[in-house]
Amino acid sequence: MPTKTAPQRRPVIGGNWKMNTTLKPAEALALAVGRAAMQPPLHKAVEVVVFPPFVYLAHVALTLCHANSDLAVGAQDCWPEPPGAFTGEISVAQIKDVGGRCVLTGHSERRHVIGEDDALVCRKTRAALAGGLSCILCVGETLAQREAGETDAVNERQVRAGLEGVAAADMKRVVIAYEPVWAIGTGRNASPDDAQAAHQRIRAVVADMFTPDIAAALRIQYGGSVKPDNAASLFAMPDIDGALVGGASLKAEDFLAICNAAASAAAQR
Ligand code: 13P
Repeated sequence: MPTKTAPQRRPVIGGNWKMNTTLKPAEALALAVGRAAMQPPLHKAVEVVVFPPFVYLAHVALTLCHANSDLAVGAQDCWPEPPGAFTGEISVAQIKDVGGRCVLTGHSERRHVIGEDDALVCRKTRAALAGGLSCILCVGETLAQREAGETDAVNERQVRAGLEGVAAADMKRVVIAYEPVWAIGTGRNASPDDAQAAHQRIRAVVADMFTPDIAAALRIQYGGSVKPDNAASLFAMPDIDGALVGGASLKAEDFLAICNAAASAAAQR
């Protein structure tokens, strides 16, 4: 059974800029998105958050603040220890200090390119939550795992491991992003039905780990080649509560078209 029923989940759209942009284009992109986020149809209806590269995070947050935009800014990563001798790393406290409100954990590029394992992803998730931030925990299978029929098993393992030790009360600040690795940056995306099936299964895992109410309130984003022309069909699915967008988040027009598609879908629910 699809789990679309109450409570109504406000869609959440993330723009993961990855290692892209330079200072001035980052500022212009943030302002364009930040202004639109304050207007109908987005304001209050859709939660929008952008994830600039660390070097631009403080500047983007300050720019949005000066423009009176409440567009949220998040970090693409964090280090799970308190401030100290960790050369090159950024603490949760530092992210919060410069206006960051959210952290991405378990992104496939950090799992598969940088080599992070489930245990480190979990430490980062818990550190972000302990530091008062919200967290988007990313999960998803590789192409080989999908072809071997392991999609649900991989998602379940990553969800259980990533949320191990997370307090039920903190689940309000958690979003899960289902991002099949083979769909990221490839132009191939999961069909709405395949994504829906994966989301439904992930929600069932969260219900088993926590409670059915926590699972029903949890927002699960889809990520992987989301574009203006495929967003609406994904958002029409009952367990898809938004998107984590890579490439298309670098163009304000495309990113806002995706945000607007989420607003339309929410209005029809
Ligand atoms: P693309 O939208 O470029 O496929 O990237 C998805 C992603 O990794 C978002 O975190």
